[in-house]
Amino acid sequence: MADQPIRLYDLTIARETMAEVRDTLKSTWLSSGPRVKQLEQEIARRCAVRYSAAVNSCTNGLLLTLQALGLDSTAEIITTPFSFVATAEAIMHAGANPVFADIDPISLTIDPEEVARKVTPRTRGIIPVDIAGQPAEYDRLKKVAEHFTLPIISDAAHSFGAKYRRKSVAKVADAAVFSFHATKNLTCGEGGMVVSPHKALVERVKLLRTHGLTRDAHTRHQQASWQYDVIAPGRKANMSDIHAAVGLGQLNLFDKQQEKRAKLAERYRHNLADLEEYIGLPSPPRYVSHAWHLFIIRVNTDALTIDRDRFIEEMRGRGVECGVHYIPLFDLSLFQQFGLQEQIFPNTAYAGRRVVTLPLYPSLKLTQVDRVCEAIREIVISAAR
Ligand SMILES: Cc1ncc(COP(=O)(O)O)c(C=O)c1O
Repeated sequence: MADQPIRLYDLTIARETMAEVRDTLKSTWLSSGPRVKQLEQEIARRCAVRYSAAVNSCTNGLLLTLQALGLDSTAEIITTPFSFVATAEAIMHAGANPVFADIDPISLTIDPEEVARKVTPRTRGIIPVDIAGQPAEYDRLKKVAEHFTLPIISDAAHSFGAKYRRKSVAKVADAAVFSFHATKNLTCGEGGMVVSPHKALVERVKLLRTHGLTRDAHTRHQQASWQYDVIAPGRKANMSDIHAAVGLGQLNLFDKQQEKRAKLAERYRHNLADLEEYIGLPSPPRYVSHAWHLFIIRVNTDALTIDRDRFIEEMRGRGVECGVHYIPLFDLSLFQQFGLQEQIFPNTAYAGRRVVTLPLYPSLKLTQVDRVCEAIREIVISAAR
């Protein structure tokens, strides 16, 4: 029998998740309530940080965190052009202006020196992205942030479970915003969480996530009182108890799943080590614990007769689905208005033409990783210059 194709992504649902969702349905309280509070406490505990606010997506978490900073239309937020569109989109929806700084070509995270070069009197914050689950260079970023008195809001969509010098990203940044979207290491189906050591910031996010209401529906229900005031132009971005129940259930598997991700990543790195002339591998520094949300390789097209897109086609032909994280923002139509040119971001442009995401998820078998690596070996050997 022919081998089954290897998918880029798959999801394992914990038995406990079914029970958590069933119990929540039985409780008949489906919107934000006790399960959301429980998830907030659990995520904050795991990050060893005191304050957390659950939201319906990481995108909205970033947006509300920026809104909580009280930005005006001249405000500039420095971020990376090598990310999902959500990062820059959140800045735009907050009414501010995204300013882009190039990345480091190996780690694919924002280059702190480039950030420093982009600071102006209008800069109000920095949003690094922990790409693939590898924390950005926080020590160096913090030096820049402290010098210019700027907050660091981490787009930690990929890095729940990662550590920077043994600390969660939420502990080293002013706020980390995690994604619990369906493909993420911890999922609620959809959802996100703002985690921060700053009480006032998180309180403000909580206010803004439910229309700026002084008392949300669950509080009014608990206090048997219908009264509320609206004190800020908020949004509708709260998490439902159903989604929180999914996350609480999935947490039962999380630590084991993280161990498996690390094992799979190690197997990739071991199997592909001798192909370094053709394949650039993720190589996190020793002081970082990678969350391995994605396994992104860099195909050295200079040493091959095929380009990255053809490489992905060849992989598909061998039964392996691959992805691309990310298309640089300057290649997307929306961002033409910013006059972004790839020449200004040589490292992003270089990486953007070469990155390929390989399958990585807890139900993937080590033997399947071996098959993926064999496919890569076959392709690069036959296409070597
Ligand atoms: C880097 C990055 N930031 C933000 C997001 C947005 O996350 P969400 O779908 O939870 O809004 C994503 C989603 O994949 C992402 O990859």
